[in-house]
Amino acid sequence: MTLPKHVRIVEVGPRDGLQNEKQPISAETKIELIDKLARAGISYIEAGSFVNPKWVPQMAGSDEIFERMPRGEGVTYAALTPNIKGYDRAVEVGATEVAIFAAASEAFSQKNINCSVAESIARFEPIMAAAKSAGVKVRGYVSCVVGCPYEGDVAPEKVAQVARQLLDMGCYEVSLGDTIGVGTPASIQAMLREVLNVVPAEKLAVHLHDTYGQALANILASLQMGIRVIDSSVAGLGGCPYAKGASGNVATEDVVYMLNGLGIEHGIDLLKLIEAGDYICRQLDRCNGSKVALAMLAKQ
Ligand code: HMG
Ligand code: MG
Repeated sequence: MTLPKHVRIVEVGPRDGLQNEKQPISAETKIELIDKLARAGISYIEAGSFVNPKWVPQMAGSDEIFERMPRGEGVTYAALTPNIKGYDRAVEVGATEVAIFAAASEAFSQKNINCSVAESIARFEPIMAAAKSAGVKVRGYVSCVVGCPYEGDVAPEKVAQVARQLLDMGCYEVSLGDTIGVGTPASIQAMLREVLNVVPAEKLAVHLHDTYGQALANILASLQMGIRVIDSSVAGLGGCPYAKGASGNVATEDVVYMLNGLGIEHGIDLLKLIEAGDYICRQLDRCNGSKVALAMLAKQ
């Protein structure tokens, strides 16, 4: 298949990236990061989550972030919301759109959100109803699309079933998460083939953690199958609090560099993006997880 002309990047660093950081991060630092990302041309930023702060303390201050951050024109500032309580909190502070998250693995669903997959879908119903009447767009995630930290291999049929359910409920797009980054182009394409039987490619995104270093190859394999939306995290920030040892999402800088090489448009200024990633790594005193950023910063 031919590659797309344009790809949309969904930047999840401020949420998926930072949610796993143990050290305190000030609101100022988070806001500065989000602003730098918007100034680099990122048009969709997942800026925080409204979950139980007891389980994910780093996201406890998401209200303040949404209230205080400057908003770039045409930029979507999204929030992760597990239930109606989270949805209400997010909308109150002006989240442009929200994301709900289900899993293709029962064990992961229990650990992550303390309920079965079917129960989670039922919990999302009130969010969908409220969002519909308020005109708020809802994105859906399916976690563990190729592997689960507790159950091992995940059946592509199960992924297809949950993805279809999220779409039928009213999600405008479903992001397929390789939460623990175990996929290879073969398993990712096998999963996508099954999902594409029931969901059109233009309604899908991929969300690939880079734990086994396969994410860029898996993105290329996904682009070849018609996927046009890629989730990524600046400087490869992150991991998942409910998937021990999982590393962050693929680094946005690395994705942008690859798209540049392939001649695919994305609207992002790579140098400004690298500056944003370098800023947060310095603030966190953390190694930069983007190979492209490391290479380009070394030349400066
Ligand atoms: P629960 O304990 O089953 O919920 O948690 P509950 O309804 O029984 O409530 C228990 C307590 O939580 C109550 O407080 C509620 O008020 C409070 P208490 O009475 O004990 O003081 N509570 C809340 N507080 C604030 N905001 C809320 C909220 N909801 C309940 N929204 C729940 C269920 C889902 C809330 C909980 O398990 C939770 O917050 N889990 C955290 C999940 C999470 O953030 N995981 C990481 C993000 S997912 C991810 O990273 C994967 C993804 O990137 C894709 C991929 O990589 O695959 C998206
Ligand atoms: Mg994730």
